[in-house]
Amino acid sequence: MDQNQLKKQVAEAAVAYVQPGKVLGVGTGSTVDFFIDALAQSGIEVPACVSSSERSTRKLLALGFKVVDLNEIESIGVYVDGADEIDASFAMIKGGGGALTREKIVASVSERFVCIADGSKKVDCLGTFPLPVEVIPMAVQSVARFLKELGGEPVERDFTTDNGNRILDVHGLRIDDPVAMESRINQMPGVVTVGLFAQRGADVLLLGTQDGVVTSQK
Ligand code: 5RP
Repeated sequence: MDQNQLKKQVAEAAVAYVQPGKVLGVGTGSTVDFFIDALAQSGIEVPACVSSSERSTRKLLALGFKVVDLNEIESIGVYVDGADEIDASFAMIKGGGGALTREKIVASVSERFVCIADGSKKVDCLGTFPLPVEVIPMAVQSVARFLKELGGEPVERDFTTDNGNRILDVHGLRIDDPVAMESRINQMPGVVTVGLFAQRGADVLLLGTQDGVVTSQK
């Protein structure tokens, strides 16, 4: 199976975690696109979705789902999203698609985070995938200098986020303590969100492998 087939496999498996009749949190990315397709085909009744990006919102609406603003609801049962890297403690690097801020907000109010990923995303130590950091435009250079002091090599992405901000992709960071690194980068003035999801990591991991979907729970 190629990578897309592995993504499709976990996306289809994630449908079993959707709670019928409850608001669903929906992440962003190619794996999530497969999940939205599978959800539409399943016929499960989802009263509304909270979306983490304009990309997912467009796809959800096109397939007939109702998308609501997070301010309109009090809680989300399940949040389904992908990852760029995930370690044994279910800490993740996310933001390869640039949706990290809204993803982190939706994850923070969700009771259960179901991560769907192909096997290549599972790592022993986070940091091979460049760490995305969403930054207020006026702070790109000051934040970049700070990230260099941490030992990273920040590269500005040619991309503007759904929130009108910029992304610095930080290469060369070895992230031995993801919780501490998340706090440290978050505290830098001008940083909107760091794409480390360690303080609120995943609860369930569905990993697509050549031998089928491997499920692990925290
Ligand atoms: C988007 C994300 C995605 O979940 C992550 O980039 C994985 O994407 P894909 O499913 O396309 O491999 O964090 O901001």
